[in-house]
Amino acid sequence: MTSSERVCVVTGAGSGIGAAIVDRLAEDGGTVVLTDLPPVIDALSPEGFPPNVHVWPLDVADGRGRTQVVERLISEFGRLDVLVNCAGVNRDARIPKIEDEPLRFTLNVNLIGPISLARQAVPAMVAAGRGTIINIASRAFLGIFGSGAYSMSKGGLVGITRALALELGPLGITVNAIAPGFIETPMARELPQHVLDATMAAIPVRHGGRPDDIAGAVSFMVNDGSYVSGQVLTVCGGRSIGNK
Ligand SMILES: NC(=O)c1ccc[n+]([C@@H]2O[C@H](COP(=O)([O-])OP(=O)(O)OC[C@H]3O[C@@H](n4cnc5c(N)ncnc54)[C@H](O)[C@@H]3O)[C@@H](O)[C@H]2O)c1
Repeated sequence: MTSSERVCVVTGAGSGIGAAIVDRLAEDGGTVVLTDLPPVIDALSPEGFPPNVHVWPLDVADGRGRTQVVERLISEFGRLDVLVNCAGVNRDARIPKIEDEPLRFTLNVNLIGPISLARQAVPAMVAAGRGTIINIASRAFLGIFGSGAYSMSKGGLVGITRALALELGPLGITVNAIAPGFIETPMARELPQHVLDATMAAIPVRHGGRPDDIAGAVSFMVNDGSYVSGQVLTVCGGRSIGNK
């Protein structure tokens, strides 16, 4: 498969990291399907994208929607080579606030959706003899104070990444996770100022990352990382070393 034949789908790609991943993969070549929640897609103007980028609605927490998008990918393009699970939510909570409903919501978006999409993408990848699944996790997989639900979901995503790499490697499919640290996106800007200040002080390179830093890691895995599988690439300016 050449990069011009490649078909990629990216979830949660209407803004932030996912949008940067779409831009980078589209530059690399092939077809890229940008998906996000229906209202986010409605607010985008499709004419603003290059012709190899297709813009489709997908709520990753919606089981029927997931199936429809995978079926549409196969019927319109005949293949699916790269799945990037990027959609994510962060409802921060300390222990008194970790109730069943927000836990289920976080798990549905950050964990069940990505696993279900991976399962449904596998047959097309097996038919092609190769494929790549990249899960955008978070440095929170290590555990972050006051962020139990999010840390749990991202830890689960790392666990399934490693398990699927074992199971799918013999079928020609690589599975990896990228764990961003603090990346300057709308999600990150919701943090209170005192948290932002403490965050910068704890990052060895002393600045936040850009969405393009994560897009570059995705591009590496898609284009040059065919012998990389089951790994968690932490892209965090050194923060995960943990001196603070
Ligand atoms: N920004 C950071 O510092 C940071 C750090 C670590 C990990 N991450 C992860 O990176 C990913 C992208 O985050 P971001 O910072 O670009 O945030 P963002 O808020 O800019 O983008 C998240 C996107 O996901 C979409 N989304 C939310 N729920 C969805 C659903 N049910 N179905 C489909 N799309 C949905 C949103 O509409 C949004 O476009 C997330 O998985 C996040 O957990 C971000």
